Amino acid sequence: MFELFTLNRHILETQRAFPHATGSFTGLLQYIATAAKVVAREVRQANLAEHLGTSGAVNVQGEVQQKLDILAHNVLAKLMVESGYLAAMGSEEEDHEIITPNDHRRGQYVVNFDPLDGSSNLDANIPTGTIFSILPRISSSKEEPNVTDCMQPGRRQVAAGYILYGSATMFVYTTGAGVHGFTLDPTIGEFLLTHPNIKTPDYGTYYSANLGNRLFWSEGVRRYLDDLNLDDKEHGKPFSCRYVGSLVADFHRNLLYGGIYLYPSDSKANPGKPKPKLRLLYEANPLAMLVEQAGGKASDGHRHILDIVPQGLHQRVPLFIGSRQNVEELESYINRYERS
Ligand code: AHG
Ligand code: MN
Ligand code: MN
Repeated sequence: MFELFTLNRHILETQRAFPHATGSFTGLLQYIATAAKVVAREVRQANLAEHLGTSGAVNVQGEVQQKLDILAHNVLAKLMVESGYLAAMGSEEEDHEIITPNDHRRGQYVVNFDPLDGSSNLDANIPTGTIFSILPRISSSKEEPNVTDCMQPGRRQVAAGYILYGSATMFVYTTGAGVHGFTLDPTIGEFLLTHPNIKTPDYGTYYSANLGNRLFWSEGVRRYLDDLNLDDKEHGKPFSCRYVGSLVADFHRNLLYGGIYLYPSDSKANPGKPKPKLRLLYEANPLAMLVEQAGGKASDGHRHILDIVPQGLHQRVPLFIGSRQNVEELESYINRYERS
């Protein structure tokens, strides 16, 4: 039997390392864990509770919202406001930042989140996830919290994590002291430690990319991906291509097995004007903190993701993330074939 090392116990033991901790960071993480259990229940009941399908609305991303996108957003937003630990939050599903109403207790933290990642896969019962990023509030408690509280470089994150609604429900997070994975035991409603101190292999032989966009990528990216399919056993090539279409699921597999996930800019919709898809604040930054804590790397092809100064709440960036050697090899192809 797994030792009953629950997520709550892990969070509290992490808090003990900070003698002056007020307990609000601990409390915030526990609220996020509760939201995770509620969303997991709704995702798993979706087929039976008629939560599937689209809501008919289109979000700020220009994407059709699934009913569960909105449900997951509402669960997280409600619990975050009620926690009293938050000053503001940014959500993929809300055009603007959400400021904790002043008739609620406002705390010293900010959370950016993707309430349901990979949601276009839901109707096919394919794994999805929730991604969260925790930042310290920068506005003073005498000021009104505002969007600059949400728009801080990834290096400022105090914690990051994701919940993976896969064959099991997993909660994977870091507070800057390693990456730790917990698996939900639904019979007791607790996340139990199953993957302590995750380290990602320095080099992996899996790659995740939507090859349907290949013609619309830059030359360096195209050449890099073509070379992954060469017959070069010394470097583990040809690699295996694994692409779920849910970033959290692809990221999690590559984190454990080694490999690289790529979502480059592509010019598919705008010939000559390549555009990125994934969002900096609530997809790239939290996963970048996790992968660096696990010994890997996250880049936009030129810069560390965590060094990018955000220009907008829903800013998009190219994302190359996973095993360090794989990401650095991709960067060398971009440097060699793309004079910036
Ligand atoms: P979201 O469902 O939060 O909008 O994220 C979807 C993202 C990511 O999860 C996935 O890897 C990628 O979009 C898939 O994009 P393509 O369908 O363009 O490959
Ligand atoms: Mn997403
Ligand atoms: Mn989403």
